[in-house]
Amino acid sequence: MNGTPASLLTIFGATGDLARRMLLPSLHGLENDGLLPPALRILGTARSELDLEGFKALVADAIGQYVPAAERNDATLARLLQRIHYQAASVDDAASMQSLCEAIAALRDGDVVYHLSTAPRWYAPICDALGQHGLGGAGTRVMLEKPLGHDLASAIEINDGVARVFDEERVFRVDHYLGKEGVQNLLALRFGNALFEPLWNARHIEQVQITVAETVGVEGRGDYYDGSGAMRDMLQNHLLQLLCLVAIEPPSQFEPTAVRNEKIKVLHSLRAIGREQVAADTVIGQYGAGAVDGVAVPGYRDELSDSGAGRPSTTETYVALRARIDNWRWKGVPFYLRTGKRMPQRCTEIYLQFRSVPHSIFDHGASALQPNALVIRLQPEERIELRLMSKTPGLDRAGLQLSQVALDLDMQEEFGAHRRRLAYERLYMDAIEGNGTLFVRRDETEAAWRWVDAIHDGWRHAGMVPKTYPAGTWGPGSAVTLTDRHGHAWRE
Ligand code: BG6
Repeated sequence: MNGTPASLLTIFGATGDLARRMLLPSLHGLENDGLLPPALRILGTARSELDLEGFKALVADAIGQYVPAAERNDATLARLLQRIHYQAASVDDAASMQSLCEAIAALRDGDVVYHLSTAPRWYAPICDALGQHGLGGAGTRVMLEKPLGHDLASAIEINDGVARVFDEERVFRVDHYLGKEGVQNLLALRFGNALFEPLWNARHIEQVQITVAETVGVEGRGDYYDGSGAMRDMLQNHLLQLLCLVAIEPPSQFEPTAVRNEKIKVLHSLRAIGREQVAADTVIGQYGAGAVDGVAVPGYRDELSDSGAGRPSTTETYVALRARIDNWRWKGVPFYLRTGKRMPQRCTEIYLQFRSVPHSIFDHGASALQPNALVIRLQPEERIELRLMSKTPGLDRAGLQLSQVALDLDMQEEFGAHRRRLAYERLYMDAIEGNGTLFVRRDETEAAWRWVDAIHDGWRHAGMVPKTYPAGTWGPGSAVTLTDRHGHAWRE
């Protein structure tokens, strides 16, 4: 642990959408289970000129709206509200920052966690203000929400700004996928079992696919999303983090330096996809009108403009690519990554296909044998499936019949008594206790941007624009060619 459990959690952007949907419900969950340090205080701050009662009403409303009824109770809410404080402040208003800093100084009784959930352009000015008021020294930690920049240069600028006040061990960059149970279970599966490691390499794995498919559109975040796109919004962070966890060498311990040292090696081993390769190795798409779950939905451009009249945009809402990791373990194994909005179903999944048996002893030939596969499904439900060939029951007068069956572990069934936690419950506890293992280090973020920047440069150079796909489908048809060309097929 880096420091002692925090005495104060200060949330910047405490009235925002993320706070209402995720952060406050997570604190409620932790409160309900008695996991928050007894003396922890929570200070919300935002531009909104609310008084304490007004903010408490907002907290209660968010809990009512976003915590399932079965998990709510009045006593928990009352206990949570007792911890809550609020101070309006705006970083460009020195007097309000002065009042905020006075409130922080008065409320803290030991370590402090600052959670910056504002537009990233405010991160450096907020850190500077905290530093100037003597609130950035030992015993303070800062959590940063994504997006951390929109390219390498802007990420460096933000990181430099934060580093003026907080040294790297005290910076906790959030990638909420790392807080998800299923993502941590990937590490448990790989490093808690002896079975997989001998097979976890290019000799035995034919291809890997990582899919993060969403059914939602841009959900009213068009202004942010249109300047970002699927590559910056999802692939640069969540998908590359998943790729790292699939591909890393075994860390010597489950602790921040050991785990992150291995992840950065993977990021450094990613082969650049530059100008010459983008056309062959990447596909971008943008959804047009269509239907998701039988409900008609507008196209991206119509969703962007309030009037529904359509706004010109070449932002990708879908990206698929073929990544390669140039090291001994993964030589020659394609990692196909894809993510998109308005797909037919919500699904986050990692699929590892093993190589075929070298020779089939069954007289209908190897073509009837399907390769083994491991499917790690993270969302919407958590399950792990090992797909194996098995004899189909029967007398087989015409030769043994085989079919593919699944050894299937449904985490909900197996661990039904355990509540599925929100990612931020885990991330808050770790930040409060000062454990950075599940947070992203500066070098990781910058290496990921460097790789992504090269692809953007390639797209610009090649004049690549997204192809339209109807909402409710698996992206543009050319995504099929991306895998087909190498003898592989997307799992659908
Ligand atoms: C966020 C993206 O980081 O992740 C959103 O900004 C996306 O666009 C979200 O919808 C997906 O997260 P989850 O937890 O619903 O898979």
